[in-house]
Amino acid sequence: MDVFRIQGPVQLKGHIQVNGSKNAALPIMAACLLAPGKSTIQGVPDLSDITVLKDLLGELGCPVTTLQDRSVQIDATNITRPVGDYEIVRRMRASICILGPLLARCGKVEVSMPGGCAIGDRPINIHVSGLEQLGAKFHLENGNVVADAPKGGLKGAEIFLGGPFGSTVLGTANVLMAATLARGITVIESAACEPEITDLAHCLNKMGAKISGIGSPRLTIEGVSTLTPVTHRVIPDRIEAGTFMIGAAITRGELALTNCHMGDLMAVVHKLRSLGVTIESSDEGCCVAMDRHVAATDVTTHPFPGFPTDLQAQFMALLALAEGNSVVIEKVFPDRFMHVAELNRMAANLRKEGPCVIVAGVKKLIAAPVMASDLRASAALVLAAMAAHGTSVINRVYHIDRGYERIEEKLNPVGANIVREKA
Ligand code: EPU
Repeated sequence: MDVFRIQGPVQLKGHIQVNGSKNAALPIMAACLLAPGKSTIQGVPDLSDITVLKDLLGELGCPVTTLQDRSVQIDATNITRPVGDYEIVRRMRASICILGPLLARCGKVEVSMPGGCAIGDRPINIHVSGLEQLGAKFHLENGNVVADAPKGGLKGAEIFLGGPFGSTVLGTANVLMAATLARGITVIESAACEPEITDLAHCLNKMGAKISGIGSPRLTIEGVSTLTPVTHRVIPDRIEAGTFMIGAAITRGELALTNCHMGDLMAVVHKLRSLGVTIESSDEGCCVAMDRHVAATDVTTHPFPGFPTDLQAQFMALLALAEGNSVVIEKVFPDRFMHVAELNRMAANLRKEGPCVIVAGVKKLIAAPVMASDLRASAALVLAAMAAHGTSVINRVYHIDRGYERIEEKLNPVGANIVREKA
């Protein structure tokens, strides 16, 4: 198992090219199952989560070939076995995004029920209820979710996808993908508006789907009988970009980010600017600079266009060094606070109260051995370690490799001192 040995404090200065989005690439690669033939998806980051999906698609009978320049070709000519086995699904919860496409294309699907994870329970009840409203029948068998489409196929319906924590991103993806091949019109109310869903909808339309209302919480889908293979480039990864923006702020440095859509990050840009961080748009992205400790602030996570839960941990690392007290409220995954105890090991002063954390800003963080618990929590620890005094050791780096492509190779050229070692 790899560990990171990170020397701080450092100041990040230079240029970073942001990758294509993991969370757009995953459902878009699954969407290729809807179209018999070979689709090409470009800008796919080289991450362990993407490898899991490639393995899963291969098991379904749809081999994935890695081409040059981060493109992948998915051959969905035949689906031989519409089953997502436990052994693969347990490696990545997002494997659930094969549910909708397989149900629509094959009329049946069996996927191992994803369990909880470090960020919470993560149920799939809304995915299931949305697909049931299209006519599917579900039951649970040996820990697998088994679904059958009715004779004659799925049928369009009016579907409400809201839940206790707002909409659901992958739930919207599943119902949207299934509805493209359902008979008649489907209207999804309270659809997720995340840029990754917008990208998926544009990709589906390129395949011949008829989706309108893209980017809004009401998606209207006119079912078609077939979809055709596509070539599509995924959007830039807004969470990777946001992590680097916070990296510039926490190290009081200056980063130019390219392949970055500032419009997908307005809640974060707005918050950082309110703390004194300078963010200017550039031709292909933005420049982020900071020359002092940030001011304290309160932040609440929400579904898009609100402040993203996927940047909550990283932002908390920044606020740990703010001048004054801040409050962080998590409204998407109320238990997503595994980083709190680890940041406290680095001399942060954080106190968890239910779905809130009270952050009393400290003058400096002190290096420590810490444990990565999930993807974004690990990113927060990397940021904190770059600002902390001394050498931190981050264990279980495989969590960060799930969502950041060789992060040390991106950060070292701009001033970080991160060594990957075998533990
Ligand atoms: N929820 C339900 N029932 C459901 C589905 C979701 O109650 O059937 C709840 C969840 O428990 C959570 C909230 O609704 O409280 C939102 O969950 P959502 O379904 O939107 O999450 P997801 O689709 O499983 C995606 C991203 C996550 C990101 C969330 C929220 C992918 C592959 N994953 O997950 O990304 O945090 O949306 O924006 O797109 C990450 O990249 O680190 C990550 C965890």
